[in-house]
Amino acid sequence: MNAADSAEMMLNLSARGCVQTQELSLADIALVNTCTVRDHAEHKALSFLGRLAKWKAEKTGRIIIFAGCAAERLGAGVRRKFPQIDIIAGAKNIENFTNIIEKSRLFDNSGATRGTDRHTDKSSDAVALVNIMRGCSCKCSYCIVPYVRGEAYSIPPEDIFKRIEDKLSAGAKEIVLLGQTVNEYNYKGKNFSKLLQDIVKLPSLARVRYISPHPIFINDEFIQTLSSSQKISKHIHLPLQSGSTKVLTDMKRGYTREDFLQKAKMLSSVGIEISTDIIVGYPTETEPDFKDTLTLLDKINFTAAYCFKFSPRAGTPAALLTPLDEKILENRLDILLNKIKQSSALAYARQLGTMQSVLMETASNGRTLTNFWVRTTRNYNKGETIELKIKDVKDTILIA
Ligand code: 5AD
Ligand code: SF4
Repeated sequence: MNAADSAEMMLNLSARGCVQTQELSLADIALVNTCTVRDHAEHKALSFLGRLAKWKAEKTGRIIIFAGCAAERLGAGVRRKFPQIDIIAGAKNIENFTNIIEKSRLFDNSGATRGTDRHTDKSSDAVALVNIMRGCSCKCSYCIVPYVRGEAYSIPPEDIFKRIEDKLSAGAKEIVLLGQTVNEYNYKGKNFSKLLQDIVKLPSLARVRYISPHPIFINDEFIQTLSSSQKISKHIHLPLQSGSTKVLTDMKRGYTREDFLQKAKMLSSVGIEISTDIIVGYPTETEPDFKDTLTLLDKINFTAAYCFKFSPRAGTPAALLTPLDEKILENRLDILLNKIKQSSALAYARQLGTMQSVLMETASNGRTLTNFWVRTTRNYNKGETIELKIKDVKDTILIA
């Protein structure tokens, strides 16, 4: 989501003649897009801002734009500690970025606008990100996203198709649909399944993926849609959060351990690989609750699981609960990570010797339809899809 937002902001800056660089010393503008989902992410963003103070002092006319979820959460008050910030563009205002830039008037007379080397749309990348929903209305008890990104809304299909067609004509082969609860999509009765069914009809589209679905919106229509087209990714990133029904209830996730298991089984039965997110040490998580998460991992062979220690976020209901001891969190995270390593190694080993269609993202790296990252021993054209045999596994990379 942040990568897509950064690209959208960059498009605006390009229209003003800016050219993108990853080299800070060459830059006139630093665009800092931030995350606040956990405290750690916000800290990283703020410590980077601290370092930028020096960069800004080195040359006059340099501009710092502080954008995204941490910017939304901290608001204008952040300027007290970081007066070097010129423009704040909170997550709720990304679509309003043009106005924010214009209102700042900073670009009227800054060197930054004098770029002669107009940024040409280099999005001949094989994969393009397209937002289909913004915000989230789920209000899981631990999560700050609904507060910093606002209520969920679905983007009209016409706008989505226009975006997709632009990306495809710029050379993209694969589209990744984005939303906090992407499969909750519904615009005047057009739900996520119907949207997917229309997207796969686009002739120049090779593949479509989506991030991140919520388990409660997985239904029969969706499973049938997934099975109906070889253009739809056979991988789903389906956040579990906990394997204990009690903790899931406390988290307000809207499903039980059994519901999740049943949906995972349905997905596996049509050849879908599953990865997930898990939070350890939610304040009400007891030792038996944690065991419930571990035993669920014996029943579902996740290809990957991103595991996080619970991080209290001010303003969320869970932040009012007494947190568990940090030692417990660390211990549970260690145990979980070990278990995931085994589960994921198993999933990778299953790929050995199989034939896979690999969509090349660079000359020698691509993805299977099941979203495994592949390195090829020969070079191919970016954007091409090739049938390859998996002959080795190196950590989380398949060698073909
Ligand atoms: N603490 C820890 N992890 C969190 N996540 C969201 N909020 C928190 C929090 N307060 C995790 C969830 C989510 C992922 C993006 O981040 O697992 O799926
Ligand atoms: Fe946060 Fe829950 Fe919304 Fe995901 S579904 S963004 S965890 S509130």
